[in-house]
Amino acid sequence: MSARGRVSSLLPDFPWDTIASVKAKAAAHPGGIVDLSVGTPVDPVDPLIRAALGSVAEVPGYPTTHGTLELRTAAVDALKRRFGITGIDPAAVLPVIGTKELIAGLPRLLGLGGGDLVVIPEVAYPTYEVGALLAGTQVARADGLTQLGPRSPALIYVNSPSNPTGRVLGVDHLRKVVAYARERGAIVASDECYLGLTWDGRAVSILDHEVCDGDHTGLLAIHSLSKTSNLASYRAGFVAGDPALVAELLEVRKHSGMMVPFPIQAAMTAALGDDTHEAQQRERYRARREVLRNALLTAGFRIDHSEAGLYLWSTRGEPCRSTLDWLADRGILAAPGDFYGPTGAEHVRITLTATDERIAAAVRRLTAI
Ligand SMILES: Cc1ncc(COP(=O)(O)O)c(C=O)c1O
Repeated sequence: MSARGRVSSLLPDFPWDTIASVKAKAAAHPGGIVDLSVGTPVDPVDPLIRAALGSVAEVPGYPTTHGTLELRTAAVDALKRRFGITGIDPAAVLPVIGTKELIAGLPRLLGLGGGDLVVIPEVAYPTYEVGALLAGTQVARADGLTQLGPRSPALIYVNSPSNPTGRVLGVDHLRKVVAYARERGAIVASDECYLGLTWDGRAVSILDHEVCDGDHTGLLAIHSLSKTSNLASYRAGFVAGDPALVAELLEVRKHSGMMVPFPIQAAMTAALGDDTHEAQQRERYRARREVLRNALLTAGFRIDHSEAGLYLWSTRGEPCRSTLDWLADRGILAAPGDFYGPTGAEHVRITLTATDERIAAAVRRLTAI
């Protein structure tokens, strides 16, 4: 490499490499590994979505960066039907090639840099930090904004329901975040990819009238179809909210060719228009969660938060790498909590994204005396 330096040197080591040996141990189990480390869907894509994908497979032209009006209207309608979010114009919706790429690029796309501060949750999806580091901003981990003292952030991430903790932030908490951000001129990016996966109680969007009084200024809600519609392989998500911010993101992304492929747009339109497959998937996860949760409690784990989302944030009150070993002895692989921030060091993240057969195997192994 030239003396210019490698961009990757700005970034943390890829954390999954650090669990290779424990993965090998789990894989050596005679009954095979039960991999509960990665939140990747395992249930098939609904036929309705596959048909929509195939129906436009012959179309040769470039798609638009803004996406079709049908797609953006379907997103607006789905947000209203599923979550009661109102007041979004289809122009203020922008499809993205999976939300990970948006998050990794967001600080940069918003023009943030050296002097700016990005706030991320204390234990957080790692890509929030990656996006900030790629833009060269400072990063602070904070759940309570008073922790920040006099510093004024440029961008604040919230993630409710959370990956990895499954914690849901209430209306009051979100209102305080919005008020704090407005006082300081910060943008709030609310990652809502688990909003449709609540188990106890409800989770609200940052764009909910109860949270922002109908004013979307400075607010962005990020929605992924990966988990709720099993579309992780398609790379399908969108961002909605402040019309001026969405227009700015669109402008920059147009120049950079950040277009969602046209057949994926058609698939997304179908997925957003149908609540049946989404409800079925939620019930699959609910059943898996119930048996896995009971088995973990029987095995002596404590489960914190986890009232929503696809993870059981679990602890045996010991360093997470010891828990990882204990699970690997039983052929089960989890993600260590320290992947998500220093305060996760005594937790492991156990996903619900495995087949019924693999979840049953995990339950047998956890409850064997
Ligand atoms: C909190 C959170 N945000 C964003 C993503 C990215 O999802 P995708 O890129 O599949 O839309 C994930 C994926 O696991 C996630 O957990």
